[in-house]
Amino acid sequence: MSVVEIIFSPTGGTEKVAQIISEQWDESSKRIDLINPKTDFMECRIEKDDDVLIAMPVFASQAPTIAINRLKQINGNGAKTTVVCVYGNGDYGNTINEMINAADESGFHVVSAIAAIAQHSIIPEYAAGRPDEIDIKQLVDFANQIQNKKGKISFKPEIIVSEEVVVDADSEPVPPSEPPLPKPDETCVGCGICLDECPMEAISSEDFTADITKCIFCMRCAKQCPKECRKVDEEVISMAAIALKDICSSRKENELFL
Ligand SMILES: Cc1cc2nc3c(=O)[nH]c(=O)nc-3n(C[C@H](O)[C@H](O)[C@H](O)COP(=O)(O)O)c2cc1C
Ligand code: SF4
Ligand code: SF4
Repeated sequence: MSVVEIIFSPTGGTEKVAQIISEQWDESSKRIDLINPKTDFMECRIEKDDDVLIAMPVFASQAPTIAINRLKQINGNGAKTTVVCVYGNGDYGNTINEMINAADESGFHVVSAIAAIAQHSIIPEYAAGRPDEIDIKQLVDFANQIQNKKGKISFKPEIIVSEEVVVDADSEPVPPSEPPLPKPDETCVGCGICLDECPMEAISSEDFTADITKCIFCMRCAKQCPKECRKVDEEVISMAAIALKDICSSRKENELFL
């Protein structure tokens, strides 16, 4: 029996949450990284008695399609599974249900689900520094509750959606006019790390710009750039921050569905 993490974590927040949980089950978990476009996911083996944790971030209130498609290539072999969606203190919409459905379709046996919060990867002022000490305590407690339950009861998930967030009608959100596309500035040294790390193979080897038809705005290339010269236009970020203020400002807590 092993603990297996199957994760898609472009900028590391989802990975942090997954580690806090999986360390409670076993300090030496195995990892299947859904980021790498070159992995043959059909070759990844899950044993029936493995404990699996599937973790993904929430993008625009949904699971990233690429992560769901890569997950669906793995045979879950009936292994007991917890799905974890990680969001930036806004809302997670229908993400948990999408993850449960995809896991189910691939033969994983879902026994529980978690919605957790990590720093917003486009607008870092939201959920700044999370998961924090309070989150860690909650997630450790969730991991222990799941472990105590495992194998005893089967999970019959109701439809799980995030609570509706009330938006102040007087401050009607203004959506950003441009997508948050990271671009290299003039200090780019052409090292190609962004290109190697992109989960979508969206970056040109000639000028290191991203192809807007492939990019999912996951921010991984900006996070991985050693020169910190890959950024989204500041105006786009501040417009997005204003648009999401009502939804993202007040602290939300992690939730466990058992
Ligand atoms: C394209 C994109 C869309 C996002 N949409 C949402 C959202 O709808 N709700 C939310 O609360 N956070 C949203 N976020 C924030 C991420 O879900 C959050 O920061 C998550 O921790 C990122 O995971 P990672 O650090 O593993 O990449 C979005 C982030 C990105 C990059
Ligand atoms: S990682 Fe940064 S420095 Fe390297 S090629 Fe990409 S943008 Fe340029
Ligand atoms: S180019 Fe787009 S998809 Fe690729 S790492 Fe950067 S933000 Fe993500």
